[in-house]
Amino acid sequence: MKTLVILGLVLIAISAQNNYHGNMVLRINLESEKQLEVFEKLENEGVIDVWSEKALIGGYHDVLVTPSNYQEFASKMFNDLKTKYEVIIPNVQTLIDKEQDRQNSLPEFTLNKFLASNDDGMEFFSKYRKPEEFDRFLTGLNQKFPKLTKLFSIGKTGQGKNINCLLISTSEGSNTTKPSIVYNGGQHAREWISPMTNAYLANRMLHEYGKVDLTTKLINSINWYIVPIVNVDGYTYTWSDDRLWRKTRSVNKGSKCVGVDPNRNWDYEWTSGGSSSNPCSESYRGPKPFSEPEVSAIAKLTTSVPNLKAYIDFHSYSQLWMRPWGFSRKVPAGDEAVGIVNDACGKAVYDVHGSKYTTGRIAVTIYEASGSSVDYVFAKTNALSFAVELRDTGRQGFLLDAKNIVPTGEEVFAAAVNVIGSKVIE
Ligand SMILES: *[C@@H]1O[C@H](CO)[C@@H](O)[C@H](O)[C@H]1NC(C)=O
Ligand SMILES: [Zn+2]
Repeated sequence: MKTLVILGLVLIAISAQNNYHGNMVLRINLESEKQLEVFEKLENEGVIDVWSEKALIGGYHDVLVTPSNYQEFASKMFNDLKTKYEVIIPNVQTLIDKEQDRQNSLPEFTLNKFLASNDDGMEFFSKYRKPEEFDRFLTGLNQKFPKLTKLFSIGKTGQGKNINCLLISTSEGSNTTKPSIVYNGGQHAREWISPMTNAYLANRMLHEYGKVDLTTKLINSINWYIVPIVNVDGYTYTWSDDRLWRKTRSVNKGSKCVGVDPNRNWDYEWTSGGSSSNPCSESYRGPKPFSEPEVSAIAKLTTSVPNLKAYIDFHSYSQLWMRPWGFSRKVPAGDEAVGIVNDACGKAVYDVHGSKYTTGRIAVTIYEASGSSVDYVFAKTNALSFAVELRDTGRQGFLLDAKNIVPTGEEVFAAAVNVIGSKVIE
């Protein structure tokens, strides 16, 4: 009887989630200005949800289409404009169910086992983790490595939750002559591989301290600030209500649509193109720059740490390692040197598992996007600034099989820690 009641509660919990039965992800090939124009209009109106970092004309665009919007989309894009396409995920709910099965088959993360001295923390990476498991994990790292870490909140979200930062430093960041590095994940809520990758970097660095010479040197010489989840409200919502939620959870005045795209809300070239003024769009830039407390908190961190030398904003998916500018196709001053590091990162990633990450400037690699993190950080601090789109290239997209967590962490570690860390202290 008790089991039945519990089972009943679990079923209610699952059915409270937004259901994606019959939703498809289509890969669209845009070959003309007219096709692009109609496509962008449909995106702006919220008829489709663009999943991939959209390429320019000639590239591909992955979009989620709901059953109720399919007719409108198909009639405009396929019947009228003869746009070429391919179905890449026939039923999104099937992938969500599969992910849920794996999640349910593995235990929740607890502190006790992790705190044992011989535990390497790798169990955390066997599946995706809830917000509270991230809190526990960061607390655990802080307790295991009290001399190497400091755990603090960089500010509150719109719903009043803490945005946690783990500082890895031998001097609690107080030695202001040292260079600093800031890495963050989870601006976009549904990109679950991004917070995990940040956590992987922190966990591995700390467990290698005193054992791997390069890592030890990099921790001794640099203040590493790691913020795995910026948009905590959105991330929480992907666990409770809608696995594919992207934006923050701000209420937009005068609109039934919730949320702002945090990565179009940074206060640099805020409206230069590649963002939307429509609250129902997935790339809604917000009512004003830094309207989102999450965004202003992370931005403030990047400008307040001493000697910021490198910054990465981790996203998924598409396998891209990109640098400024996003808002314009023009080449920033000093781009040649940044480009060399950018290419070295792409090569380092490739050398670990053979994953190809395309490198280049954002506006020419994917499309123009204004008000994004890397443009702001690069403009304000001149630090090496990268926007990274993690695995995969679209077969699973945001519903990336959790088996990818560790290999993604491994390939990114080679670039984000070893290449960039070494560059910063050279
Ligand atoms: C501060 O960091 C610099 C650069 O790593 C180092 O040379 C110096 O000895 C450090 N100062 C203290 C007080 O630890
Ligand atoms: Zn993203």
